[in-house]
Amino acid sequence: MRTHYCGELTETQLEATVTVCGWVHRRRDHGGVIFLDLRDRQGILQVVVDPDTPEAFATADRARNEWVMQITGRVRKRPAGTENPEMPTGQIELLGKTVVVLNQADTPPFQLDEHAKVGEEVRLKHRYLDLRRPEMLSSLMLRSRVTTFVRNFLAQHGFVDTETPILTRATPEGARDYLVPSRVHKGEFFALPQSPQLFKQLLMVAGLDRYFQIAKCFRDEDLRADRQPEFTQIDLEMSFVSEEDVMQLTESMIRELFHTELGVDLGEFPRMTYAEAMARFGSDKPDLRIPYELVDIHDLMKDVEFKVFQAPANDPACRVTVLRVPNGAQLSRKEIDDYTKFVGLYGAKGLAWIKVNALVDGLDGLQSPILKFMPEAVVNAVLSRVQAEDGDILFFGADLAKIVSDALGALRIKIGQDLNAHTHAWAPLWVVEFPMFEDAGDGQVAALHHPFTAPTCSPEALREAPLGHNSRAYDMVLNGTELGGGSIRIHEQTMQQAVFDVLKITPEEQAEKFGFLLDALRYGAPPHGGLAFGLDRLVMLMLGATSIRDVIAFPKTQSATCLLTDAPGEVSAAQLKELHIRIRQAETTETR
Ligand code: AMO
Ligand code: AMP
Repeated sequence: MRTHYCGELTETQLEATVTVCGWVHRRRDHGGVIFLDLRDRQGILQVVVDPDTPEAFATADRARNEWVMQITGRVRKRPAGTENPEMPTGQIELLGKTVVVLNQADTPPFQLDEHAKVGEEVRLKHRYLDLRRPEMLSSLMLRSRVTTFVRNFLAQHGFVDTETPILTRATPEGARDYLVPSRVHKGEFFALPQSPQLFKQLLMVAGLDRYFQIAKCFRDEDLRADRQPEFTQIDLEMSFVSEEDVMQLTESMIRELFHTELGVDLGEFPRMTYAEAMARFGSDKPDLRIPYELVDIHDLMKDVEFKVFQAPANDPACRVTVLRVPNGAQLSRKEIDDYTKFVGLYGAKGLAWIKVNALVDGLDGLQSPILKFMPEAVVNAVLSRVQAEDGDILFFGADLAKIVSDALGALRIKIGQDLNAHTHAWAPLWVVEFPMFEDAGDGQVAALHHPFTAPTCSPEALREAPLGHNSRAYDMVLNGTELGGGSIRIHEQTMQQAVFDVLKITPEEQAEKFGFLLDALRYGAPPHGGLAFGLDRLVMLMLGATSIRDVIAFPKTQSATCLLTDAPGEVSAAQLKELHIRIRQAETTETR
């Protein structure tokens, strides 16, 4: 139906007769001449139709926004002074001779170029219109180039693209499962995979050696801007490898991808231990574009009369720390109050601060609600430890270590953004040496990654002191987002059982849920390891988007619904009966 895309016509086609198809982006009537901006996937083309061709003119005159047109005409140079250097097609226009309406369109519920003022709900309900916007289409096209790049890269490195089941058993990755009732087996359920983790390990036992898959994963968890209930991983696994092999290969894939698509050289990724990341940045995915750091001061606060600091300073489960923000002394009372509310979201009970106005004036050069509670020597020791300078503000956190790290870690990012403190555009890093387990309270421990991650010690040592050992896991972080995570896995049954035991999974439960894995590990499982990237997050970061919803064709809302199809939806009584399911009325109304 067409000879060219609208967006690809340039001066190369001058004087050629071409046919284009697309949507009317805008129609303008300029005193006897009709201008149609015709839009397709590749861009926008200015079409001019004049009264010399009365039939074409009448059709163009009738056309309205978002009508679908086919236009044949001659490419000509725009008259001098009317060129648009902003547009790739801005030097030329099409003099339309034949204009055909392929389809009419109702007035869209929102103007495509005014989407910013339109609520996301309306955009998601009419996603097919929202996607017509050039930036949305180009996001989807970038996403497609990324997956093509990844497929080629991994195929060249000997990886075999293998599909794993969607109807399966639960794979624990720390979220709730989406369940699918079995019609054939009354009262039994499939779980949708939270990741292909166990299957990719079984493929290593099978001898596939190198596996990859662009895999859909399903997790019923609280949603955020970078979390969807249904998302995509670039998932891979390798046999006979060390951490170093997996990290080098995946780092070079990301580096080449950024170079090819964005012309960005990410350089060699620095590495940081989990302990260092938590201590300096309060996070296991630090955003290294922001130059602020946390500095611990519990040793200085052990004897001060200020109870808010003194008690945590003497409790090993707590942390007392300072965040120094250069140029922060300019913050207003209101801004500080807002930051205090912000850290409250993370459980912090307050946010003490000291403004450093003029160091030469000693205590008189400082401004703070807490100075009166602290000896001058302690204040000076704090100032010198954080290397305070005039113009700084120091924020203090004192509480359980997790609360302080979460609160000041998040504050660091927020103020960094508010004060525009980013020092560079891209900050990749590897976080390594994670603890194997964390304390989950009530005498329980929880795996920091998943329970198939290999620890750095023997099964005996692990049973003896579960919290005292690291795992062989590694996370790739980019600009404060966890882009991917992986590890060397457990390949011996005795070790896997030790981990399950430490997690207090009973032998019966082990056999029922993971019997197939424990069995497989007895039949000659090779040492293996791998990693999975979040594809949606990767594309989001490459585009500088703020939500992964912007890089998913048909995303779910924050409350895990699809506004377009109105899913999830009710099903008929007959269907429920067939699935052996009865809905408890009280609960349905509660959860709606
Ligand atoms: P993990 O749970 O860390 O590891 O997931 C890997 C990567 O997937 C992305 N991701 C998500 N993206 C969007 N929405 C979500 N709800 C979501 N959850 C995770 C993140 C994350 O880094 N099987 C292991 C990998 C392995 O060990 O090989 C796993 O799934 O970018
Ligand atoms: P208060 O004595 O409760 O008025 O607190 C004095 C100052 O300490 C205020 O600026 C509070 O915001 C701050 N503050 C209170 N609790 C904490 C805490 N756990 N960590 C850091 N600052 C706190």
